Amino acid sequence: MIKLQNISHSFTGSQNEHIPALKKINLEIKEKEKVVLLGTNGSGKSTLLKILNGLIYPEDGKYFYKSRELNRAALKDREFNKIFRKEVVFLFQHPDTMIFNPTVYDEIAFGLRQLKVNDVDEKVRHWSEKFSIAKYLNTPPFRLSGGEKQKVCLAALLCLEPEVLLLDEPSANLDPRTTGWLIDFLQELPLTIITATHNLHLARDLGEKTLVLSEHHEMFYQGDLKAFLDNKEKLIAANLLHVNRH
Ligand SMILES: Nc1ncnc2c1ncn2[C@@H]1O[C@H](COP(=O)(O)OP(=O)(O)O)[C@@H](O)[C@H]1O
Ligand SMILES: [Mg+2]
Repeated sequence: MIKLQNISHSFTGSQNEHIPALKKINLEIKEKEKVVLLGTNGSGKSTLLKILNGLIYPEDGKYFYKSRELNRAALKDREFNKIFRKEVVFLFQHPDTMIFNPTVYDEIAFGLRQLKVNDVDEKVRHWSEKFSIAKYLNTPPFRLSGGEKQKVCLAALLCLEPEVLLLDEPSANLDPRTTGWLIDFLQELPLTIITATHNLHLARDLGEKTLVLSEHHEMFYQGDLKAFLDNKEKLIAANLLHVNRH
């Protein structure tokens, strides 16, 4: 479903310095696979998710979504852009960067209205009930707690009935109970899900497969998630586990 070939990307810093973010990344993700994207801070996880969402064009390499190359021309194709924006959705790490509508209702309905989807009201009510936020539909979203905002954002994405859900550190704003609820919910969700996290405790229940980025922005490991999490040496080498040597 998703294929990256030799994807590299870097940023230019404020002093014009070269900041590498991803180096020669190759990966393949199948339909309905649940993948955990691991890597220490700054390894390139968020950049990879943004590339997968078509928000950043990589400097080098190719991205294929359902066998179609996702380049500038593809995203300028209106028909394809509409399909891609509906099928591949991205939950940003900080819900505040996604929220800008006057009410929770408008926030959830925003994408549906943009993409001119039918039955907006029915979908907004369905997903707000599912996330127990129906009581806030007329409330300005900024009044909600971090966890509730996260639920609003997730409802706004899932009401598009996407096929691929990209999650960037989804538990960063959540208390343990809401985190537990989210993990259970995601496990049951029949979508392709790619979750970026540096939280090893969380990772175990978020998928079967893992992609691990090294601190040098290269693919360090691809394969079985549990096998990776049980391999202490690999965890240390990927800078995901710290060992006190005294
Ligand atoms: N917009 C940006 N401008 C400059 N540097 C950036 C930008 N976004 C990310 N970076 C840099 O790219 C590298 C990878 O960042 P990121 O993808 O955010 O890593 P992660 O999500 O794994 O913490 C880091 O060195 C980060 O500082
Ligand atoms: Mg990040």
